[in-house]
Amino acid sequence: MQSTYFKRFRMEADLGLAQTASALPPGYRFVAWNEAMIDAHARTKFWAFRDELDAIVFSCLGSLDGCRRLMREIRGKSGFLPAATWLIARGSTPESLQWCGTIQGVAEKHGVGMIQNVGIVPGHCGLGLGRCLVERALAGFRMHGLGRAGLEVTVDNARAMRLYQRLGFRRTHTVYKVVEAATPQPALELAGSML
Ligand SMILES: CC(C)(COP(=O)(O)OP(=O)(O)OC[C@H]1O[C@@H](n2cnc3c(N)ncnc32)[C@H](O)[C@@H]1OP(=O)(O)O)[C@@H](O)C(=O)NCCC(=O)NCCS
Repeated sequence: MQSTYFKRFRMEADLGLAQTASALPPGYRFVAWNEAMIDAHARTKFWAFRDELDAIVFSCLGSLDGCRRLMREIRGKSGFLPAATWLIARGSTPESLQWCGTIQGVAEKHGVGMIQNVGIVPGHCGLGLGRCLVERALAGFRMHGLGRAGLEVTVDNARAMRLYQRLGFRRTHTVYKVVEAATPQPALELAGSML
């Protein structure tokens, strides 16, 4: 087995400071959580993460089944917060509807609201949707009376790092995620094992 270490920051932001909410670009809208939305979150997560670095760091993000499992796990947490869990959609008819972004929030002990995964589907990135989703989740944490927001991010994920820093998140800890990958066996060994 070969191990790769991914450096990740735990970051936190103070929710005490008043924040202005950025407006979504024309044509996009927020969709609030309800139980029927769980699969839309899972599918949006999958399309947002499937070709990204975090799908290597967390293999579940690279498959639709994995994203469905992850959504069920997040939904099942005791601190799951509907007010910090949002989708962004575009299009108003069933034929034109596109799910463009997803975020989920969970209240932890000690008054910290944890952002689980923020994902914007390629084709909708760079338009400010990620910023709007995080701001919306932070507003949900505030409504719930939480004092701080937290998240974890892979340091090499430059877009995500920039987004969080601009929104006031600062590093509190550094952690390493170990990913084990099976070492490819040399051709001769493989051939031998098939004899
Ligand atoms: C990270 C992610 C959520 C950002 O969403 P987004 O909608 O593209 O981001 P925004 O348009 O709101 O831009 C946020 C900031 O990132 C910057 N940014 C956007 N695209 C960028 C790029 N290609 N390179 C560097 N910075 C970029 C923007 O300039 C903006 O900074 P600013 O406020 O200083 O102008 C999105 O790219 C994504 O879903 N990535 C894949 C999944 C992922 O890695 N999620 C994060 C897990 S921790």
